[in-house]
Amino acid sequence: MDLSPNADYLEHFKPLQHGTKAFRLARGFFITFEGGEGAGKSTQIERLAQKMRAKKYDVILTREPGGSPGAEAVRHVLLSGAAEPFGPKMEALLFAAARSDHVEQVIRPAIDRGSIVLCDRFLDSSRVYQGVTGGLDPLFMDTLEQVAINGMMPDMTLIFDIDPAEGLRRATARRGTEAGPDRFEKETLAIHQARREAFLAIAAAEPGRCIVVDASADHDTVEHVVTAAVFAALEARAPARNRQTAPA
Ligand code: TYD
Repeated sequence: MDLSPNADYLEHFKPLQHGTKAFRLARGFFITFEGGEGAGKSTQIERLAQKMRAKKYDVILTREPGGSPGAEAVRHVLLSGAAEPFGPKMEALLFAAARSDHVEQVIRPAIDRGSIVLCDRFLDSSRVYQGVTGGLDPLFMDTLEQVAINGMMPDMTLIFDIDPAEGLRRATARRGTEAGPDRFEKETLAIHQARREAFLAIAAAEPGRCIVVDASADHDTVEHVVTAAVFAALEARAPARNRQTAPA
């Protein structure tokens, strides 16, 4: 469990090296990765970013909660459980505050300059964790979402689907036994099951944006599925992309 406000993750925000030749799209492409605990999102995001960079795409990798210095500061409050006693509404507001900062400081500028943004969790996590299993009013959640994203809807969302028992087993193995589960991992299997169903319901309701990935398969198989889906979407989106040189 990484609660540090300035995690190594910030390293990934580095834009392309000066003078590197890169594909930049007329408008960037915003891809989010969602799902329950231990679904392997982080591994797949790293692999996809490497593949894209090898193909000279200008890509940034980021995550929530966090992704900008302001949001990383709020991350610690949320994942340590410090905000939990104040209730799900307080937590939802903090996730939204962090998201707003992340969108305006990192995501929107990257999309505006034509980069591809890969984001580990985004608005669907709030819909599921705070909205559905936090039991918050849908109208409140919807309003909060609109304020937080301010129009920055993902172009594509990959929903990593895994049996929660297996996901939690993987999450524990990844973390090691010394560090305990974080604020959200520690909840009951029934809650994780409800989250799985909520993510699948979002995918069913928004098929134009969401793709469900079977995350129970081995890493290489999942990578294959993710790569095929993302590159197909990119090509469909920008078949005649321009090759440009990143500004020095
Ligand atoms: P984290 O350790 O970053 O990662 P992972 O994606 O590997 O689980 O944990 C983030 C936790 O925060 C996770 O349990 C989901 C939760 N979360 C929410 O409850 N709402 C949100 O809006 C976001 C972005 C995350």
